[in-house]
Amino acid sequence: MTTILLTGATGYIASHTWIALKEAGFRVLGVDNFANSSPVVLKRLEALLGEKPVFEEADVNDTDRMADIIARHGVQGVVHFAAHKSVGESVAKPLEYFRNNLGGLVSVSTAMERCGVKTLVFSSSATVYGQPERLPITEDCALSSTNPYGMTKLLGEQMLRELERCTPGWAIAYLRYFNPVGAHASGTIGEDPRGIPNNLMPYVTQVAVGKREFLQVFGGDYDTPDGTGVRDYIHVCDLAQGHVAALRHLIEAKTSVTVNLGTGQGYSVIDVVKSFEKASGRPVPYRIVDRRPGDVASCYADPAAAENILGWKAQFGIDRMCEDSWRWQSTNPDGFKD
Ligand code: WQD
Repeated sequence: MTTILLTGATGYIASHTWIALKEAGFRVLGVDNFANSSPVVLKRLEALLGEKPVFEEADVNDTDRMADIIARHGVQGVVHFAAHKSVGESVAKPLEYFRNNLGGLVSVSTAMERCGVKTLVFSSSATVYGQPERLPITEDCALSSTNPYGMTKLLGEQMLRELERCTPGWAIAYLRYFNPVGAHASGTIGEDPRGIPNNLMPYVTQVAVGKREFLQVFGGDYDTPDGTGVRDYIHVCDLAQGHVAALRHLIEAKTSVTVNLGTGQGYSVIDVVKSFEKASGRPVPYRIVDRRPGDVASCYADPAAAENILGWKAQFGIDRMCEDSWRWQSTNPDGFKD
């Protein structure tokens, strides 16, 4: 049984990937420092997995500790989720983002190399496409960054590609996430941002549950069907399955791969609001306000490469994403507060 280490393991995407990997027959070890997640997630995972999750509290920037954990648990592959992920926060704290996101990646890769482990899944992002040069976006589209967060994903990819070039033997999956939303169908784990949500879906769910008065729609004058921003929302459980498929590819084919993890379907902000109101039966009042600096009009994937190379394709549509988001938020109005 292959042992996989997840960094940032109690985070939103990692916790869902943890379940998918266990269901796929992997042994999973989680590491987190709870900088942006709650230890309560471990209790929820125990209930879902039917066993106590194997977990070590650690900061990925502690290379010696990471190497010790990898060696002690016989880790054979790593999925590196741990990173700060707020575009707005990255503009305010660029050096903290470079330290944590790039430094953390160097630290984890160094610990892996010390232990002779060279199977790595890197959480990248559609943000590496900057202002997309064409739509739908294919993996050979031009890359650029428009904010420090996006730069850490772009430079992270470039660092790893150079590492592969210099030291053969690495098998790396570069997974470019589009817009992850939704939650495990049980409603016991989900997205639990701290403070005011930056992203659309958690803000919508907090309006629906009465925590926020109304949604601000950032811009109604984009060149899109209804003037609001269009994005490729992907169910977090589909995203988790993409990680399972990527690991199987790395282990079996031992070759690196770069793929978009999206559905290929773009939805506008208003589309999401309407779908969510249908799924929840709750109104989501909104006001159209000025555009948010740095936003692009439209961003959605061509997901063919992931299907052709990994045999993976997203299964869930926007209605299921909204249904599962609502179940999580309505049964956990205060997130992971125990
Ligand atoms: C989606 C749409 C907004 C909030 C970012 C990162 C990306 C990834 C996902 C980390 C846009 C509109 C949003 C609100 C709104 N993050 N919106 N009111 O900006 O596409 O992507 O998050 O990995 O890397 O760049 O996602 O959810 O913030 O915005 O109108 O209160 O919703 O303008 O059109 P985004 P988002």
